[in-house]
Amino acid sequence: MVNNAEEILPKYWYNIIPDLPKPLPPPRDPLGAEFSRIDLLRTILPKEVLRQQLTIERYIKIPEEVRERYLAIGRPTPLLRARRLEEYLGTPAKIYFKYEGATPTGSHKINTALPQAYFAREEGIEHVVTETGAGQWGTATALSATMYGMKSTVFMVKVSYEQKPMRKSIMQLYGGEVYPSPTDLTEFGKKVRKENPNHPGSLGIAMSEAIEYALDHHLKYLVGSVLDVVILHQSVIGQETIAQLDELGEEPDVLIGCVGGGSNFGGFSFPFIGNGRGKKYIAVASAEIPKFSTGEYKYDFPDSAGLLPLVKMITMGNSYVPPPIYAGGLRYHGAAPSLSLLMKEGIVGWREYNENQIFEAAQMFMRTQGIVPAPESSHAIRAVIEEALEAKRANRKEVIVFNLSGHGLLDLPNYDSMMKRVTSNEQR
Ligand SMILES: Cc1ncc(COP(=O)(O)O)c(C=O)c1O
Repeated sequence: MVNNAEEILPKYWYNIIPDLPKPLPPPRDPLGAEFSRIDLLRTILPKEVLRQQLTIERYIKIPEEVRERYLAIGRPTPLLRARRLEEYLGTPAKIYFKYEGATPTGSHKINTALPQAYFAREEGIEHVVTETGAGQWGTATALSATMYGMKSTVFMVKVSYEQKPMRKSIMQLYGGEVYPSPTDLTEFGKKVRKENPNHPGSLGIAMSEAIEYALDHHLKYLVGSVLDVVILHQSVIGQETIAQLDELGEEPDVLIGCVGGGSNFGGFSFPFIGNGRGKKYIAVASAEIPKFSTGEYKYDFPDSAGLLPLVKMITMGNSYVPPPIYAGGLRYHGAAPSLSLLMKEGIVGWREYNENQIFEAAQMFMRTQGIVPAPESSHAIRAVIEEALEAKRANRKEVIVFNLSGHGLLDLPNYDSMMKRVTSNEQR
């Protein structure tokens, strides 16, 4: 496969916006707002990132320098067949997975961190800033910034900073500067700390701090999910998968991925949807953050502090505080506008699973395939197992393909806690 890596890696990113069944409702400023969030976006995003966020072009050329970096980090990532899982389930379905955990940072997040860092560098920026929840996005940002000779500052949700010291270490080893948020580095952080010196932090607060810090220090802000430009960059996943399936002569029936903000699911499935490939698309969220079953489709802020423009999406409300589940990357109140529209139109279906269900699925996958999946990705695995068992009941020979968005080797303490909890429940 490495031999034809050059051919499998796409030359263009795919943008689903012109292929959506309805025009995407545009981002907007709140009525009577004291400042324009759309102008703020212009200030903090690298110019080319903003242009790509707003474009309705279907294909956007990937700069050669970025393609080279994609190849250097091991793209195309492997498309593997989960034969032992198929055998274990006794299903007539074939199960394939795209393994984004094979990237050096361990997840799909590097696919957009690299181009965003590249565009910032092209503008002469020397320092970028972002926030991170569980740490995957911060890790990808730290490595990408260093690869393009820039500094990076990462505001990491304090509770994760304390619970996941290895994520902090890897960001620092890559050259990132990491702060547990809330900090005293921003006015917003100071305000939060004044109200509660022991505040555990949240993604919304970390995001607000990163944006304020970018504004104060004239830095550029890198975006980890939700915005269309992120899904655009992530389209390398789906396009590679199509080329790899074509090489194998397989036609996919069902495509499955997990959803935090929607970038790995969108990047994986949108090239299939746009090309009329596949019959069923399933987006999987956490049942502890039940946005698909209980969220509303309405204009809302993508960030908790309300600094970014309002977008129309499925949301639980930007003041919603997600419970501290182990799949930190799924602790988000909404879903990307393009994905929300496709779900509203009935093109993309959904599932929600709780932590016990995803733990069971993760363990089955580890024991059959040997790979430790990220807890986020284990949500997709649960849906795959259910789909494969349904195919068995109906004696249907279908092809199920899912995106394994990351490995879980830095999540072992979380799996350990889940294992203890499940074991003690069983004994009760
Ligand atoms: C491994 C992994 N999968 C999935 C997600 C969810 O994000 P998104 O929906 O943007 O892909 C994250 C977010 O941090 C993640 O780290």
